[in-house]
Amino acid sequence: MTGFFVTATGTDIGKTYITAGLVKAMRAKAIKPVVSGFDGAQPHAGDAAALLEAMGEAPTLENIARIAPWRFAAPLSPDMAAAREGRAIDLAELATFTRQNVKDGLVFVEGVGGVMVPLTDKHTTLDWMAEVQLPLILVTGSYLGTLSHTLTAGDVAQRRGLKIALVVVNESAESPVPLAETCDVIARHTGLPCVTLARGASDFSQIAAKLA
Ligand SMILES: Nc1ncnc2c1ncn2[C@@H]1O[C@H](COP(=O)(O)OP(=O)(O)OP(=O)(O)O)[C@@H](O)[C@H]1O
Ligand SMILES: [Mg+2]
Repeated sequence: MTGFFVTATGTDIGKTYITAGLVKAMRAKAIKPVVSGFDGAQPHAGDAAALLEAMGEAPTLENIARIAPWRFAAPLSPDMAAAREGRAIDLAELATFTRQNVKDGLVFVEGVGGVMVPLTDKHTTLDWMAEVQLPLILVTGSYLGTLSHTLTAGDVAQRRGLKIALVVVNESAESPVPLAETCDVIARHTGLPCVTLARGASDFSQIAAKLA
């Protein structure tokens, strides 16, 4: 079994973009167990559909349900989105599902939001990641402020005993400095391997090589 948990400093940072790219480049599988903002009338639009497409699978509701069992309509943190529907995520069930799906081949687990987005009244994604103990891919942006966000997210994950396999600086819409400079600073402060990804990039071979 080889698996990576793809997390980020926050929502909309590029987890799906990078997971889909890596799935194609490495002929891997991906799951997105928790989705909020899911629109059942437009299943083609969401994260699960993007990951299925990268795997060469049809984005049918059945396939979406298989890789993304916890789907909520409200585009909110999962705890709040679930509560809107009178539901709650069971962390033990979520961890079991995740473990069961990383048994064969190479599997990327896309998290949800950032490292500490709440999943329940008591638990955050950090607890989920600690339960499954997969090496992390930490996706960050290149916007002004990303350095503190990245160092904070990395530090909290490492303090929970999680291993960060790679930091990916995904180019934000506006970047005050060259991407490589942001990566260099992150690498200097954390000692972690760091790679950059430009906007619109379709070549994921450099990131894939770092994970091999
Ligand atoms: N390197 C990139 N080049 C071009 N577009 C990108 C890049 N990275 C991300 N995007 C776009 O930015 C948006 C947000 O990215 P993405 O959906 O991957 O974020 P996310 O971290 O998965 O968000 P969520 O927390 O909702 O799962 C998407 O429209 C995506 O296509
Ligand atoms: Mg996503």
